[in-house]
Amino acid sequence: MPNIFSINDFGEAKNELQKDYFDRHTPVIQCISEARPGEILRIRVRVGTEYAHPHEADHYIALIQLWNRETLLAEARFYHGVLCNQPGNVEVEFTVVMPQVSMNLTALSYCTKHGLWRSQPHAVKVGTEK
Ligand SMILES: [Fe+2]
Repeated sequence: MPNIFSINDFGEAKNELQKDYFDRHTPVIQCISEARPGEILRIRVRVGTEYAHPHEADHYIALIQLWNRETLLAEARFYHGVLCNQPGNVEVEFTVVMPQVSMNLTALSYCTKHGLWRSQPHAVKVGTEK
């Protein structure tokens, strides 16, 4: 079983290099926090916020997965060339229908050189009113 890295495993970045390394591998979930059952959610996942990840033939972000607890909801694959060999931040938007119960979302990203990285969890509560 491979390690799944999380910013929580490392604690506070001690310097700019660590901050860059953690940020450019960590997926971030952008989504509302409350929705009605049946509502269509647009869930954006972006890898990195401040720092660009390299995009080279042997080193790039190849995968983003979206999980609700232990259930894999969706995944997007990226291949070398999607960023035209320029460093950047891959991102994807998933469309998910809100279930009857709350969700606890987590995203995973896979770097071809630095392995699997986990996002912070993102809860979406069941709401009754819009
Ligand atoms: Fe990497």
